[in-house]
Amino acid sequence: MAQAKKALAKKSRTAARATKRARSKTYHNFIGGRWVPSKSGQWLENRNPADTRDLLGRFPLSISDDVSAAVSAAAAAFDGWRRTPAPRRAEILFRVGEILIRDKEKYTADMTREMGKVLKEAGGDVQEAIDCTYYAAGEGRRLHGFTTPAEMPNKFAMCVRQPIGSCGLITPWNFPMAIPSWKMIPVKACEEAGVPPGVVNLVTGYGETVGAGITGHPSLRLISFTGSTETGRSVALACAERNAICSLEMGGKNAIIVLDDADVDNAIEGAVWGAFGTSGQRCTASSRLIVHKKVYREFTKKLVARAKALRVGNGADPKVEVGPVINSEAVHKIMGYIDIGQHEDGATLACGGHHLTKGEYARGFFIEPTVFTDVTPDMRIAQEEIFGPVTSVIPTDSLDEAIEIANGVRYGLSAAIYTQDVNRAFHAMNETYTGIFYVNSSTIGAEVHLPFGGTKATGNGHREAGTQVLDIFSEWKSIYVDYSGKLQRAQIDNEIEDL
Ligand code: UN1
Repeated sequence: MAQAKKALAKKSRTAARATKRARSKTYHNFIGGRWVPSKSGQWLENRNPADTRDLLGRFPLSISDDVSAAVSAAAAAFDGWRRTPAPRRAEILFRVGEILIRDKEKYTADMTREMGKVLKEAGGDVQEAIDCTYYAAGEGRRLHGFTTPAEMPNKFAMCVRQPIGSCGLITPWNFPMAIPSWKMIPVKACEEAGVPPGVVNLVTGYGETVGAGITGHPSLRLISFTGSTETGRSVALACAERNAICSLEMGGKNAIIVLDDADVDNAIEGAVWGAFGTSGQRCTASSRLIVHKKVYREFTKKLVARAKALRVGNGADPKVEVGPVINSEAVHKIMGYIDIGQHEDGATLACGGHHLTKGEYARGFFIEPTVFTDVTPDMRIAQEEIFGPVTSVIPTDSLDEAIEIANGVRYGLSAAIYTQDVNRAFHAMNETYTGIFYVNSSTIGAEVHLPFGGTKATGNGHREAGTQVLDIFSEWKSIYVDYSGKLQRAQIDNEIEDL
């Protein structure tokens, strides 16, 4: 009997493996309108972080030669594409948007399987790419420049946007569609919608080879990078070497301020969503909760109860609220910070703190939603980006102190306040040095028609999304048309009596 059971179990395991193999595919780079393997002949495996037996597929482990081929294809396509009127280019983008809507469910499931976030959030990630595609398509009919009076008569002055040239776009794994869509739309959809060959190219691989190949390539006028502050610095250095434009979107240590007049239950919802959504793997994650002492006890009690009740598991299960983290290095880093919080910082571990390894968790990278309380602003867990399901509650006496704490980190991406007092909300909005601010909402949830980005170590002054993104992806050209029929010297022939 036991033998038969064993045999049956073995058989079903083998069958499961076979199905998983059947579901895994070989993917290629997309260069000049063709799907091609890397010149390295090597591959990297992409596995489901909720169950590493599930191999999604193998992807090219590319090298700088692949990057060069992609850049050449882009250069060959550039003139044709830039001469295509913007409204025509926009029509192709509208088609891309329709394809994304058609395939939303499939993308959502693929994303959960690939990087672990729960289905609802993966759906939001796809939706953000849809929103962004339609928004950019709408801009195609607008792409406004401006006119302005010239200094002299019979002279016309105007400013137009011109395409910037070929761009290198380096995107992160935590938002596989939303963040790329601020720079680039999913490639297969572009292909299907009729984006001409070479306009969009895709090369997969690691930073040392592909990343370095992109950042150092002399023909790429702009590098747009989203990722860690440390890697961003090396991207910026490479760009400085060759005078390339560089747009960086990096780390965060975002704070929610909860004042004594806040709707505490609403603030708890915002804190849980902001801290544990995408398992805390967001640059906008609410990793600090600065709470007024008058509501501190109530807030921490309710927060801990909610965090403990969160269902952790495979994001493909619709009942799961917190998925895995991305890989074993992430587990190592996050558990390291949990250790630092307890032993080096001396904060109180109010709940969570475990790496889950048994039963349904045995094959994935799961960490319990973790809350530290009695945290002081200078502690490492309150200063450094953890990028995992860990948040720190910091008690405060006043709004001004809370703002000082919120500003007292090296990053400046997002911040939020919960209060019923409009004066205090505006005061905080004005005094908080971040790129994004929310009132009575979490630190996450940016919409695509507003600029996204941050101050200090989060960014280098550029913004993505909104119309502001056009200031990175185009260059201004100032044009003067003199129709006076004579030489008019600027700054010289502009005395009133000359006119
Ligand atoms: C990120 O936090 O890594 O604002 C990006 C949001 C999303 C994008 C987040 N629209 O929550």
